[in-house]
Amino acid sequence: MPLIHRLYPILRPLLFQLDAETAHEWTVKLLRASHLLGMLPDPEPAPSKARTVMGLKFPNCVGLAAGMDKSASAVDAWSALGFGHVEVGTLTPRPQPGNPTPRLFRLVEQEGIINRMGFNNPGIDEAVHRLERRTSTGIIGVNIGKNFDTPLENAADDYLTCLRKAYQVADYIAVNISSPNTKGLRDLQAEEPIRRLLGTLKEEQARLATTHGVHRPLLVKIAPDLGEEQIEVLARVFAELGMEGVIATNTTIDREGVKKNKLWKEAGGLSGKPLMRQSTAVIATLALALKSEAKGAPPPIIGVGGIMGEMDAEAKLQAGASLVQVYSGLVYRGPKLIAEVAGIPNTV
Ligand SMILES: Cc1cc2nc3c(=O)[nH]c(=O)nc-3n(C[C@H](O)[C@H](O)[C@H](O)COP(=O)(O)O)c2cc1C
Repeated sequence: MPLIHRLYPILRPLLFQLDAETAHEWTVKLLRASHLLGMLPDPEPAPSKARTVMGLKFPNCVGLAAGMDKSASAVDAWSALGFGHVEVGTLTPRPQPGNPTPRLFRLVEQEGIINRMGFNNPGIDEAVHRLERRTSTGIIGVNIGKNFDTPLENAADDYLTCLRKAYQVADYIAVNISSPNTKGLRDLQAEEPIRRLLGTLKEEQARLATTHGVHRPLLVKIAPDLGEEQIEVLARVFAELGMEGVIATNTTIDREGVKKNKLWKEAGGLSGKPLMRQSTAVIATLALALKSEAKGAPPPIIGVGGIMGEMDAEAKLQAGASLVQVYSGLVYRGPKLIAEVAGIPNTV
């Protein structure tokens, strides 16, 4: 078993003594150091686990969800942990500090996390610079958003700026319109705003593809707090515009199942185990809707939300996802979760 897998059960109680954001910062630092010292498993991809999705060859089905590495500061290390893809961001055109602290809370008994980080990030230029210097060759998604002080009616300009800047360093671009922590952002999921925004981005994507001679898939990330009808409307718009993929889902504003925890009233998005069922249900509805709307093959779904083990990942794939991502599960279960979901033997 890789050293890092054996170390995590020892490290976890120490990290959980710290406040959640400090623990996160230390974890990323430790991870980078472990990578530099050659201590990460860096597993050989098993050919049987590889899959081609959106024309991209993924070495396995599990990726790192957005938000864990907002600044693209440790992509080589995440790849060496075994992730088949790494999604960095959310990145905005200008750097921004995010919301005041505390803004990240562990709901330990429920294996959940509430966050209201508010897109703290170093800005798209800094992240692009870091991605240009990476040494790993794994698949990179760049998740883009808008600055908190950009009025909603000008949001498209922010997304366009990020799309243009990230185009050459990303394997795919994810349009995040589903974070609950940027005022008004989720309003962009309504039919007309989303058609306008994604339509503009698709036009720019076509121009960039011609300029650079390479087509980068454009995905959209949706919230779990959508009703069946809203999902069907979105599926119609996505199919109409030829979106290449959908990431489902972001964190929830729902607090069902965590009200026993004294932190349940903290504002923000809830992730982890309490989100599992809700996000899988959205994936199932979305998969059916995309299937009935798409003229040819429906756009693939990347399933994310509450994956704490292999069975959860399997449930997302069964519901219609082609790939999965994890964030909170990594906090509670450690890096062996990646090996488990990716089917990497424990002996690597
Ligand atoms: C602390 C934290 C920060 C996050 N930041 C982002 C973000 O910047 N952009 C984004 O699209 N999703 C963000 N997410 C959402 C995750 O990518 C993921 O969709 C969600 O947490 C559900 O997956 P999980 O249950 O495996 O954590 C964040 C989640 C957490 C816990």
